[in-house]
Amino acid sequence: MASATQNPPINGIIPTPPQWAKKKPLPQTLTIAPVTPSTLPAYRRLITLLLPIRYPDKFYHDSIQTATSCTIALCALWHDTSTPASEPVVVGGIQCRVDPIPAPPSSPGKGQESLYIQTLATLAPYRYLGVGSALLEAAIEAAIAIDYAGGIRDVYAHVWEANEDAVEWYARRAFAVEPEVVVGYYRKLRPRGARVVRRRVGVEDHLRATRKTETEVDGINGSIGKGKAASWEMG
Ligand SMILES: CC(C)(COP(=O)(O)OP(=O)(O)OC[C@H]1O[C@@H](n2cnc3c(N)ncnc32)[C@H](O)[C@@H]1OP(=O)(O)O)[C@@H](O)C(=O)NCCC(=O)NCCS
Repeated sequence: MASATQNPPINGIIPTPPQWAKKKPLPQTLTIAPVTPSTLPAYRRLITLLLPIRYPDKFYHDSIQTATSCTIALCALWHDTSTPASEPVVVGGIQCRVDPIPAPPSSPGKGQESLYIQTLATLAPYRYLGVGSALLEAAIEAAIAIDYAGGIRDVYAHVWEANEDAVEWYARRAFAVEPEVVVGYYRKLRPRGARVVRRRVGVEDHLRATRKTETEVDGINGSIGKGKAASWEMG
């Protein structure tokens, strides 16, 4: 049914934004920020608590990004407004790696990159507030803003085949679920298979990232990439 807030028709077709793009307002007490030495211990505890995989120290060493880093690690911070002096609490996190895609033989040197989601998790009491979606969006925007050599072509993740909720969560955010299960992907889990979920990074993502970069706020992610800063303040 049409509503007064729908986008105007283009050539008679009413554009329907994808489901994942229909954002409800996020709580103003939430911000998304790169993982720093001070938030790393809480970020590490959160990942250890919520995901069934044990990551090595190197993984957390990579969480603190440098100018040449191929890792994007962000955390969601909850600010307790009732006690203004209190430290924000880490309530969610995402860590991604930028993987080069080999250039096709037809155009050598034109390789692009994939953004690989290594971890994504929100503490249970803070779920269904948009934290996971905000982390995902912010990681894609950060990867675009860093401006890797060939540009980010797509974003993908392995999801444990038994984690149907997560597979569906990605599917509702326009990720395609690849039909084949990657057999034996998880050595220590039963069942051991993984589903691959993948979404192309398109023009809309680039436009959103550009808009964010234009409204830079110093300091929030000055450590990422080529010094480009973007604000991921919610509200
Ligand atoms: C998967 C997971 C990260 C999702 O986190 P989350 O913070 O609850 O995610 P969101 O709040 O963005 O989305 C959940 C629901 O909240 C709703 N929501 C509420 N406010 C919202 C907002 N402002 N923006 C977007 N969604 C919002 C959405 O409708 C969404 O439901 P939908 O999927 O039907 O659209 C979380 O369930 C989790 O940590 N699971 C355990 C770890 C895991 O499985 N990780 C994934 C494998 S790597």
